[in-house]
Amino acid sequence: MKFDQKAFQYHEKASIQKKVADWFSQWIDKDCSRLAGLELGAGTGLFTRYLALRSFREFCATDISHSMLHEGKARLPNICWEIQDAWRLEARKADRVYACSLLQWANDPIRVLSVWRDALLENGRLLVCFFIEGSLEEFTRLDSRFPAFPWKGEKEWVEIFRAANLDIIRSETRTDIMIYESPRAALRQIHDIGAISENRMKPSVLKRLLEDLEKREKGYFELSWRTMRVECQQSNQCL
Ligand SMILES: C[S@@+](CC[C@H](N)C(=O)[O-])C[C@H]1O[C@@H](n2cnc3c(N)ncnc32)[C@H](O)[C@@H]1O
Repeated sequence: MKFDQKAFQYHEKASIQKKVADWFSQWIDKDCSRLAGLELGAGTGLFTRYLALRSFREFCATDISHSMLHEGKARLPNICWEIQDAWRLEARKADRVYACSLLQWANDPIRVLSVWRDALLENGRLLVCFFIEGSLEEFTRLDSRFPAFPWKGEKEWVEIFRAANLDIIRSETRTDIMIYESPRAALRQIHDIGAISENRMKPSVLKRLLEDLEKREKGYFELSWRTMRVECQQSNQCL
């Protein structure tokens, strides 16, 4: 991940993340006036801007990156912004914990979801929205080594939530097809926002893959993004 280095252009270039944040915002409670809310991995505030409208009793947007926080604060100066590593929450509790486009980056999602579960106050809820298998399919079906990123499918995620002692209240998936000028332009945009996996593909393999895709070009390139949104709570079994 290189979000910190790309924070200055994330907000303008993160078009699929913007769409996903709009969709996820439909699940924010209408009345948040009695709730303490906490957002993890808030970035420049694409989802935060919806939370900021809801008059929480208390609310804080957090991110691990100083540059992202700087961008977020500049756009939404009237809310609390704090540095926070979402993989290790310390002494934080809230009625609603939100994370938009973050969970797919967790190396150990069961542990991370357990940490987020422990941050819930009594009757609290965790709301998360993240990218799943089916994303970037136009690349992966040509070469499964792309994008060197271990996407998980919907069923696998349901098992992960269960293993983290979370009961799913509701969940939904959706697929968006985004149009780019070319396969290279699609990859450039992904790189431009810092969404880069550490296990990168060999440049020679990537070059061949792009050449293959470019041969089929129709003057534009369609790329799939598949997203899952989940609202859950601490499992009854662990109360
Ligand atoms: C794809 S961006 C999503 C930003 C925003 N939520 C949105 O919907 O546009 C992922 C964000 O998570 C942050 N992030 C990555 N790892 C993190 C961690 N361990 N703790 C907190 N934030 C993290 C990055 O700095 C980045 O701002």
